[in-house]
Amino acid sequence: MWTIAMKEILILTLFISGIRADASLNDLDMPSSNGRVPSFVTPGQTYRIATGSTVVLPCRITEPGSYVLAWKRGIAVLTAGPVKVTPDPRVSLLPASPGTSSLPGIPGFAGGSYSLELKNVRPHDAGDYVCQIGTLEPREITHTLEILVPPRIHYVSHNGPLDVLQGATVKMECRASGNPVPTVAWTRKNNVLPSGERSVSGLSLVIQHADRHSAGQYQCSADNGVGQPDTKHITLNVLYAPEVETERGTVHTGIGLEAQLVCIVHAEPAPQVLWFKDTAQLGTTEQHASHSRGNRYTLVIRNVTAADFGNYSCVGSNVHGKARGHVVLTGVPGLAVFDSSTLSTEKDIYNISWSVNSHAAVTEFRLFYRQQRTPHHRSHHFESNNTMNMGHRSEWNSVVIPGSGVTNPSMQAPPPFPGVTKQKMWYVIKGLQAASTYEARVQAKNSHGWNKMSPIFHFNTRANEMENMVEPSAQPAVYGSSQTGLFPFSSSANLIAPSYYTFTIIAIAAAAVY
Ligand SMILES: *[C@@H]1O[C@H](CO)[C@@H](O)[C@H](O)[C@H]1NC(C)=O
Ligand SMILES: *[C@@H]1O[C@H](CO)[C@@H](O)[C@H](O)[C@H]1NC(C)=O
Ligand SMILES: *[C@@H]1O[C@H](CO)[C@@H](O)[C@H](O)[C@H]1NC(C)=O
Ligand SMILES: *[C@@H]1O[C@H](CO)[C@@H](O)[C@H](O)[C@H]1NC(C)=O
Repeated sequence: MWTIAMKEILILTLFISGIRADASLNDLDMPSSNGRVPSFVTPGQTYRIATGSTVVLPCRITEPGSYVLAWKRGIAVLTAGPVKVTPDPRVSLLPASPGTSSLPGIPGFAGGSYSLELKNVRPHDAGDYVCQIGTLEPREITHTLEILVPPRIHYVSHNGPLDVLQGATVKMECRASGNPVPTVAWTRKNNVLPSGERSVSGLSLVIQHADRHSAGQYQCSADNGVGQPDTKHITLNVLYAPEVETERGTVHTGIGLEAQLVCIVHAEPAPQVLWFKDTAQLGTTEQHASHSRGNRYTLVIRNVTAADFGNYSCVGSNVHGKARGHVVLTGVPGLAVFDSSTLSTEKDIYNISWSVNSHAAVTEFRLFYRQQRTPHHRSHHFESNNTMNMGHRSEWNSVVIPGSGVTNPSMQAPPPFPGVTKQKMWYVIKGLQAASTYEARVQAKNSHGWNKMSPIFHFNTRANEMENMVEPSAQPAVYGSSQTGLFPFSSSANLIAPSYYTFTIIAIAAAAVY
């Protein structure tokens, strides 16, 4: 510090004595050889320059005469006349372009041009630069240099992966410097932020109740419009005990088929997943194989025998805990799915149809149906019958329908039941009430037993007067028609008329164009 201060004093002294020397040469008079005092051609300006680049601070004067020019920064003299005073190698006086006249005593500088070049500018170069003419009362211009600094993230709260327990509150932070002050924005790789937003600004990002959905790679990015934004990544790992779901709770198969039992296991760190049949752990054998892909864990049973039917479970465990999923492997048919229209074509009969997936041939179906009491029926019932028994439903009617006893291998069930076929059946229910809602269920049996009762299916019978009614969508088109008699109210007829006229006018207009 001391040496620098000494140097500045030395330079200052040098400069002042320089002016004195020149002034004495010029008899302390301002005017130059042709009698005029030099003035500046270039005004003082502010320059905004990115770090690392080169700036030229211009200083041109009229009638240089024999005055000495100097560049100063604060009290430090950078150049005096042709002499570069500062030891900074990045500073130089710009040579004049050839063919221009030179300042007296300053060879190589164009007539009146005394520009300062500063290479590889740095943030601490910011400040005022003064170009001064050594007249008796010094004249000067001041350039202000602002150094634009590209953004740089100088602090990241977490270097490397950030591991938190499920439910924790996570705070990530990035601090950045630059000129102008950069803004920091947070995004997430290939995903939106847990808040659902694409990006949020701020020095920190807070995630409440971290769960497996909040895990991933986060990115903070600082930008101030200078150069490229700076970015840093934080990988968030949320640690939690396994969560197990089964793809299907029941897998329908058949003897000799290959069956696949699937558990979806989420866990961090990655779980160990074991398969059990009842309480016995299953190893890899000719009959059983297990594999995983991502978080999908599959048990393959290669050649299903009757002994393979039963209850299976997958158990996922890691240091944070364990969880179990249950899958039943069965040979009985799958649940029946109804495919008939919900509105009967007749008022008293209904053709109900359904299908089941089964490998073994279905030998028997049981169809159950009954009339459903609508709210209207109930209140009517209540009024006429003074009991509180308003929710009472009629008994189920049941019909036993023999299955075809054969499977048609061309009717493959949709995936994921390889080898299982779709078996269709229908039945015409007679003696129904018109304009009523019915509910139906079906159960199917094969050599392995009865399946579960299907969910309830609703259908409606047509109303008695249906044949005589004109459906709204089936009304004849009347626009432009003179048959207003179709409308019982004159107001309807009046409503039609304007449409008709509009139509006519358009038609005439169209004709006029041609
Ligand atoms: C499946 O097992 C049965 C009896 O155990 C055997 O007869 C049949 O060849 C096996 N099928 C396959 C594809 O391995
Ligand atoms: C499978 O488990 C269920 C309960 O989840 C039980 O009712 C059933 O009897 C079990 N079946 C076998 C074959 O163990
Ligand atoms: C009942 O519907 C099925 C198709 O769903 C059809 O194949 C069958 O012929 C119909 N039965 C009658 C009697 O209309
Ligand atoms: C009321 O309704 C119930 C059920 O429909 C019926 O059993 C009973 O006989 C009715 N009572 C009268 C008084 O109509």
